[in-house]
Amino acid sequence: MTLAEAKQKLAQYGQEHVLKYYEELDAAGQEALLTQIGETDMSVLASCKHREELVKKGEITPLAAMELDEINANRKSFTSTGIKAIHDGKVGAVLLAGGMGTRLGSDNPKCMYNVGISRELYIFECLVNNMMDVVRQSGSWFHLFVMTSEKNNDTTIQFMQEKKFFGYNPEFVHFFKQEMAAATDYEGRIYLEEKGRLATSPNGNGGWFISMKNAGLLDLVKKEGIEWINVFAVDNVLQRIADPCFVGATIQRNCDVGAKVVRKNAPDEKVGVMCLEDGRPSIVEYYDLTQELMDARDEKGNPAYNFGVILNYLFRVSALEQLLDGNLPLHIVEKKIPCLDEAGELIKPQEPNGYKFESLVLDMIHQMGSCLPYEVERNREFAPIKNKTGIDSVESARALLRENGVEL
Ligand code: UTP
Repeated sequence: MTLAEAKQKLAQYGQEHVLKYYEELDAAGQEALLTQIGETDMSVLASCKHREELVKKGEITPLAAMELDEINANRKSFTSTGIKAIHDGKVGAVLLAGGMGTRLGSDNPKCMYNVGISRELYIFECLVNNMMDVVRQSGSWFHLFVMTSEKNNDTTIQFMQEKKFFGYNPEFVHFFKQEMAAATDYEGRIYLEEKGRLATSPNGNGGWFISMKNAGLLDLVKKEGIEWINVFAVDNVLQRIADPCFVGATIQRNCDVGAKVVRKNAPDEKVGVMCLEDGRPSIVEYYDLTQELMDARDEKGNPAYNFGVILNYLFRVSALEQLLDGNLPLHIVEKKIPCLDEAGELIKPQEPNGYKFESLVLDMIHQMGSCLPYEVERNREFAPIKNKTGIDSVESARALLRENGVEL
């Protein structure tokens, strides 16, 4: 893109300020900035001024979960179906590790966080330990695809290689990068993170399948005959990955997606809950859950919206492929964005200072024909690390790891 073209594009979107330091850059710096301006989607930025209108919900009705009693009664059969699928190479997993983990506030990628006390125990190590249970049980490795972003890709790969994947078979580990999006102040003006670089952040975890395709990994999925993909977050150190019973239940119920859920511990707990939206599976975020929905009861008299998602989904690959062109809704979230201040100095804010633009994997559920919410015991499978202390923190995850017999 030429300077004239860049100026024209920036004027169209009211972003001319990003050229403030253009004359100070060397030729390579100028070219890199113009390229970035050319590649950045600026059409979405103005929508931050009416962000509450972006994610409009349809009619919400309950979607029953498969509860523990039913799972236990069928455990043997589900597990043997799941083990067979894993053994036959039909199951793969995607680790969502592209996030910035700003709430945890560590400079390194989250997977490198050491939750150990008297020994080293990294988040990624906890996940591999859980995966190894399945490898032993099924007698076969399953493919792990790791999504990183431009910001943490090299550090993540280097760490995992140095640690020899904590014993996982490297031939079954593949990395791909997600896309980035511009980050702005509260007026939708793009921040600069360097004099010659727009501030960008990973564009949310919803783009994982497209990014995997763009990286050529869908060819591997096809070649290997992978029919199911278990997508999971990096920060739940207790979660079971490619859990045979969950895999078997989703296959036997013939659903396009299975979603691991936990029983809510309070009607207003801050988790997204499973529901139907206009008759299709969906997730209603806690801030959209009205008092009326919180009070609603099912025919047994239990809360009708009582199961929260934990970001562990099993997608049928053929259902995902039909969605490739379908757009996901945009979420505009407040975050801490490192940026240059008025004097051109880099600042790392302690409080949120603007918006990131993201698409979310939970919105993919609404695009699936059928979904099986599958209950898991929260104390056994849900220990997310979002913060340093308090709720969903290093502290709470350590307590839960101990409770499950993990030495720290
Ligand atoms: P979070 O919602 O916890 O976001 O991600 P985050 O960006 O990592 O953390 P905060 O909000 O800044 O503290 C849930 C999961 O989705 C992944 C994260 O790595 C985590 O596994 N994720 C999130 C991505 O892979 N890409 C993204 O763009 C965002």
